Amino acid sequence: MKARIVTLPGDGVGPEVTAAAVAVLEAVATHYGHEFAFDEHLIGGAAIDATGEPLPAGALQACKASDAVLLGAVGGPKWSDPNAKVRPEQGLLALRAGLGVYANLRPLTVHPALATLSPLKDEKLKDVDVLFVRELTGGAYFGAKTRGADYATDECRYTEAEVERVARRAFELARARRRHVTSVDKANVLETSRLWRRTVAHVAADYPDVTLEHQLVDSMAMLLLTRPGSYDVVVTENLFGDILTDEAAALAGSLGLLPSASIGEGRTGLYEPIHGSAPDIAGKGVANPVGAILSTALLLRHSLQLEAEALAVEAAVDHVLQHGPRSRDLGGHAGTADVRDAVLAALADRAGTEHAFFG
Ligand code: NAD
Ligand code: IPM
Ligand code: MN
Repeated sequence: MKARIVTLPGDGVGPEVTAAAVAVLEAVATHYGHEFAFDEHLIGGAAIDATGEPLPAGALQACKASDAVLLGAVGGPKWSDPNAKVRPEQGLLALRAGLGVYANLRPLTVHPALATLSPLKDEKLKDVDVLFVRELTGGAYFGAKTRGADYATDECRYTEAEVERVARRAFELARARRRHVTSVDKANVLETSRLWRRTVAHVAADYPDVTLEHQLVDSMAMLLLTRPGSYDVVVTENLFGDILTDEAAALAGSLGLLPSASIGEGRTGLYEPIHGSAPDIAGKGVANPVGAILSTALLLRHSLQLEAEALAVEAAVDHVLQHGPRSRDLGGHAGTADVRDAVLAALADRAGTEHAFFG
């Protein structure tokens, strides 16, 4: 198949992990007979430096016209002055809103070979297989902001329609999994959470085959550590989802491992690792590219409907996590390029075997 993929490497380790991910997509195209055309654009601090804007109009336009967008990360100390008029992160938010990708899928599994890297005991990590569905285009991220001399506000606003559409996604996804949805809110305090809970419960009536459980976010932060194996699909609002998924990444062993897919009703999906620009290790060639590479598997699956190719990338990553080499965050010494090359080799092996088998 032919596909147009926009890449937005961004800042810090963004370009390093995105280059590794693009190499994997190029290998998939070669092994499986596809044509992927890549078109690179600026976002974040890099875009501010070059144009003054965190998401230049041409970049958003190119994204909208593409089949899928692969993003690295944005932000960094250079652009983090609290008084700055424009910030890299605004580019990412404008992109998510511009593409209308309201559902952010963040899958979490724990590779058995990495269980010792997690702060939790091995036995707690058995059966951890959670799909977080984070609402991505509403809430405090997008509400009105004010700033006075000695105060500031961020409005948190949700409409029923915004909650309903992301809840439906969560229930649909649960149907293809273990049919359990945990909805996370703060309904004991927040009005938006009471709207959230009521709307999710209403949607649940259309999915009698799926069990719905409500949890308050503070308690959920604890439960993720005490019984992470008991969750299937976890759906929550934008800010809670941001926080809980970084916490969850610690169970996998490193923030550098987790991928994400952001989808809406439009045809273009957005794919990015959940980590940031990692300024502390940027430019050293040591960032773990696995989160970015696994994001390409999600891209192949959700935007290009190439399930076999997605599974091949995931299997290649599994092989590398099992046998090495490992990047520093996983206790190894390998650089980004070493991990990339190992994934490419595992992918080539697998493709060779498949072709021999089917050929
Ligand atoms: P971060 O995710 O960049 O880094 C947190 C820690 O995880 C650091 O110690 C970092 O070295 C480590 N880490 C992250 N990715 C890694 C990888 N691939 N391999 C190995 N280690 C990795 O979070 P932060 O330091 O709080 O934020 C830095 C900047 O990134 C901020 O400007 C923030 O806004 C931005 N950010 C962007 C995104 C995004 O673009 N999607 C996501 C999160 C944070
Ligand atoms: C993420 C990041 C972003 C978010 C920031 C950089 C705007 O933390 O993708 O998780 O909060 O959504
Ligand atoms: Mn985050």
